[in-house]
Formats: sequence, structure tokens, C-alpha cells
Amino acid sequence: MNGKKVCVIGMGVMGSGIVQVCAQAGYDVSVVSRSEESLKKGLEKIKSDLLRLTKKGQLKQDEVDVMVDAITANATASLGDGAKGADFVIEAVYEDMELKQEIFRELDKICPEHAILGSNTSTFPITSLAAVTKRPDKVIGVHFMNPVPLMKGVEVIKSLMTSEDTLSKTLEFVHSLGKETVTVKDSPGFVTSRMMCLILNEAVKMRENELASVEDIDKILRLSFNWPLGPFQLLDLIGIDIVVAVLNTIYNETGWERFKPAVLMTQMVRAGWTGRKAGKGFYEYT
Ligand SMILES: NC(=O)c1ccc[n+]([C@@H]2O[C@H](COP(=O)([O-])OP(=O)(O)OC[C@H]3O[C@@H](n4cnc5c(N)ncnc54)[C@H](O)[C@@H]3O)[C@@H](O)[C@H]2O)c1
Repeated sequence: MNGKKVCVIGMGVMGSGIVQVCAQAGYDVSVVSRSEESLKKGLEKIKSDLLRLTKKGQLKQDEVDVMVDAITANATASLGDGAKGADFVIEAVYEDMELKQEIFRELDKICPEHAILGSNTSTFPITSLAAVTKRPDKVIGVHFMNPVPLMKGVEVIKSLMTSEDTLSKTLEFVHSLGKETVTVKDSPGFVTSRMMCLILNEAVKMRENELASVEDIDKILRLSFNWPLGPFQLLDLIGIDIVVAVLNTIYNETGWERFKPAVLMTQMVRAGWTGRKAGKGFYEYT
């Protein structure tokens, strides 16, 4: 990468994790958050994660204070202020194509010519984001996994227009965060979302068919496959709205019936029961 300034857009579940790993790797991070509430929540989450690392002896308290102060000082609601001078941008806003395209159009105008524009989208074609900019060769997918500080793998998605130079700089950047990468072709859901959402959708369909309770489906799959979380726990962690959005994108792009979201999930999204972040999903959270 050419420089050390990273801008993360969105401070939700993923954005806050990405901000944390970039700060820990020594990057100068700015955060663009349009919601006061998610900024506050994200900062609290980062703080408590970093404090946990001090207890394990991996960080010192004064290092945590410096990181948290720097992130807080560089948080802004203005895309112009946050992205100005950035070398690498990672967009992590809602899974909404119009919103993401609007942000990419703006970023293209604001960011220095050399800046790479990355998206953490779970499923949208990177080509559709690249196409709204005048630098399609510098647009790339950087798909982190949840929870970002813990999960080692990152899918890097190369669109038809992404240059080899952008790919190699992105791989270098992601490796500098202590992550491992796999480069994937631009295809709906890539590898991870396509596989994971199919399994999660099937679990909800099993529940709709009353094969077993939510708790029991989770329990038997955890015990049988050694999964750390059952599918409903994972749905609540990822966000049911995100999973429905991913399924809809894959279904609409491919017409593959197996990706049509289970009705129950769509209804839960309408009810606002989107999982942990909402306090209620398949389980309740206090
Ligand atoms: N949740 C997961 O497990 C997961 C995993 C991998 C990738 N993703 C992808 O990451 C992206 C973010 O997902 P998330 O789970 O963090 O969502 P989220 O709902 O937790 O957070 C989205 C954030 O975007 C912010 N936002 C919306 N519009 C904005 C704007 N114009 N400017 C700045 N901020 C804005 C919101 O305030 C919110 O904080 C999505 O594209 C999603 O598909 C999610």
C-alpha cells in the first residue's frame, strides 16, 4: 500500500471490527459514521475487546487509551472529512446496493487518485460498484468475517476491472492486519456467503417444517459437526437482515430456487427482529 491512512465507512457490526484491526496494526484510521448510536456502540465494543487483550497481556492499558482516543478523534459524520487523504477505504454500510453505489460515486470524487476503494459487501457484484467510479481498476471486494478481530480469513474479490496492482496492494494490506486471504472471482455471494447462507436458510426451513426447536437444531449441529455456534446463533450474530439481503441478491442474480429466503426470516426482518444487534432474533438478548 502507498500510505498508512485507512478510512472505514460504517460503524456497525463489521465496521467497528475493521476499525479495531486496522488500529491494532498501526494504521491511522478515520471512521465515517452517520449514526451517533452506532458510533457509540462501536466505540464501546472496540474498547471492551481491547481491554480483554490487556487482561491477556497482549496490549498495555496506555496503548489501548491511545488507540481509542485516536479512533474517537477521527470519527466524523462527513464522508468528505473522513475519506480525504485516505490511501485505502473500506465501505461497510448496510447491504443496500443504491446506498453503496452512492458512496462509491462520492468516494471517487473525494479520495486521492491512488486510493483503493474496497467494499465489505457480503454478496453484491464488485463490478457494479466499480462501474459507478472513474477508477474501476482500483475497486475491490475485501470481505472480512464476523467477528473481525477473531476470524483469520478474508475473501478478496477481484472484479473484471480490478487491476493486478490493486489486487497485490490489497493482499499486502490485508496480510498486514494479520489475516489470511483467498482471492475469489466476482460472483454473487462469493464462496463464503454462498455456502453459509444456503446452510442458514435450510435451518430456518427446517424450523418452519417443525423438525425440531431452534435450540435443538443448534444443539445437534454444534455437537455433530463441532461448530462453535449453531445456525440460529449464527443468524443472530450475523444479522437476519444481512442474511436475507444476501439470499435475495443470489436468488435474483441466479434464479436458483434454493436461495429464496425462508418466509419466516423475511417476516422477522419486517418485525425488526434482526438478531443480537436488535436485542431479539431467534433468541432474546438483554
Ligand atoms: N454481519 C456480518 O456478519 C457480515 C459479515 C461479512 C460482511 N458483512 C457486510 O458488511 C456490511 C455491513 O454489515 P454490518 O453487519 O456491519 O451492518 P450493520 O447494520 O451492523 O451496520 C451498518 C452501519 O452502516 C451505517 N451507515 C449506513 N449508511 C451510512 C452512510 N451513508 N455513511 C456512514 N455509515 C452509514 C449504519 O449507521 C450502521 O452502523 C454489509 O455490506 C454486510 O453485508 C456483514
